[in-house]
Amino acid sequence: MEPGWVVLAAALVAVLAQNNRNDGPRFLSRGHSFRTVVGDTLLLPCQVQNLGSLVLLWRRGPAVLTAASLMVTRDDRFRLVDGYNLQITDVGPQDAGDYVCQISDRVSKDQVHTVEVLVPPSVRASPESRHAAARRGGAAVLECRASGNPVPSVVWHKLNDSSVRLAEGPQLQLSRLERQHSGKYACTVDNGVGPPIVSEFQLQVLYPPEITVERSWVHTGEGFRAELLCTVLADPPAEVLWYQNSFPLSASERVTMSVRGNNHTLLIANVQPEDFGNYTCVADNSLGRARQHVEVSGRPGAARFTSPPLARARTAYTLAFAVDSYPPLDELRLLYRQLAVNESFQQPGRWHDVVIPAPEPAGSLTHRVTHELRGLDPGAMYEAIVQAKNRYGWNEVSDIFQFHTLGGTHSVHADELSPMFSSAVRHRLMTYAVLLALYTHMVG
Ligand SMILES: *[C@@H]1O[C@H](CO)[C@@H](O)[C@H](O)[C@H]1NC(C)=O
Ligand SMILES: *[C@@H]1O[C@H](CO)[C@@H](O)[C@H](O)[C@H]1NC(C)=O
Ligand SMILES: *[C@@H]1O[C@H](CO)[C@@H](O)[C@H](O)[C@H]1NC(C)=O
Ligand SMILES: *[C@@H]1O[C@H](CO)[C@@H](O)[C@H](O)[C@H]1NC(C)=O
Repeated sequence: MEPGWVVLAAALVAVLAQNNRNDGPRFLSRGHSFRTVVGDTLLLPCQVQNLGSLVLLWRRGPAVLTAASLMVTRDDRFRLVDGYNLQITDVGPQDAGDYVCQISDRVSKDQVHTVEVLVPPSVRASPESRHAAARRGGAAVLECRASGNPVPSVVWHKLNDSSVRLAEGPQLQLSRLERQHSGKYACTVDNGVGPPIVSEFQLQVLYPPEITVERSWVHTGEGFRAELLCTVLADPPAEVLWYQNSFPLSASERVTMSVRGNNHTLLIANVQPEDFGNYTCVADNSLGRARQHVEVSGRPGAARFTSPPLARARTAYTLAFAVDSYPPLDELRLLYRQLAVNESFQQPGRWHDVVIPAPEPAGSLTHRVTHELRGLDPGAMYEAIVQAKNRYGWNEVSDIFQFHTLGGTHSVHADELSPMFSSAVRHRLMTYAVLLALYTHMVG
């Protein structure tokens, strides 16, 4: 024989000899770990050779499930298929554990399968109603107790425009509640088995009414209309009533009240002299009450300056401003002064009091006025206030306006030219504004 054949034959003999030596039973399948999902059907293999007259058992812990082809367990979800393979239908979490396929010869090693049962997430939400209410400044706890296998993660979001991620874990604790904490919240429970569960909650932060008025002073004229707006925030929602000079107002042919969202509007059509006065919107809910006043007046609106803060010339400046008034303007007053006389003398100069001729009737609500100031110092900073009068009286003194003439020894920084004023300057100047108001009341 060829030497190769000799080797092959020797190997064959060795294999046969081994088979003969192990003539007893032998597992053809192997022990394995199984992962299954609740509700699925699971097949645990157990294939044996040369079982002979021996008996094959399926055990789970000390409990025997099957013996030979006999079902020992009463659980009818268990079945033997194609010999000794164990089939479990509708697997539940209780089915997790080790399953042993055993040959009754006390010699062969057991075959062990390990079963892990994956459970999709479930959640218990608290409050169960998914609605929580707390007062402003108080606290609220939302809870999502999750179960499942593996242990699910719990993530909290606030469901506003951007869906902000807030926290992880079963509890969302919210404290020092503010109005803007109201809204929808959600927990997302996920463990990778099946789809995540999202539970939504509604949080209501309760607070007494808060009112803001767009304008606390509304200019109108006889025959024109007036619109008063109170924006009311409250939870629970507030009841809103309107008063004129502390008498309750009711809707009439000329007076209508309307609500749009948080906006409560009082509309007076075809204003009559008796409509001028002090109006109040009052908002009530179970937690409190708020009120705001709006004056309806025929007097002109406060002047708004429109000229740039830097003069075009060294000694002159053209002041421009606008005044709202339905009737023609009768009279205008201007007060101005230099802010610091010179560099060594940092005191304001004296006020110059100017009567400006009333402009031509504007034909519209807004009257635009320009007035040229002459004889100013070059490179100097000035400030001005303006007041206007129509047949209903003088308006409120304008805000203080600052401007700067060209030239001078020191260069001007842009921030010095800002028409906004420091509170210190404003405070100082309000004294003059009050004096001016008193003066105009006496002469007006
Ligand atoms: C959404 O809510 C979060 C948390 O309260 C807040 O920080 C965020 O500014 C809100 N975003 C919008 C667009 O309202
Ligand atoms: C309420 O009034 C404010 C101010 O005029 C306005 O910006 C807002 O759009 C109004 N809201 C509604 C719902 O009308
Ligand atoms: C309007 O009336 C209220 C009281 O009813 C008062 O507090 C408020 O100062 C008045 N406002 C004006 C501008 O008269
Ligand atoms: C600054 O002004 C004061 C007061 O008018 C005056 O007495 C002083 O001479 C001035 N100084 C200069 C440098 O112009």
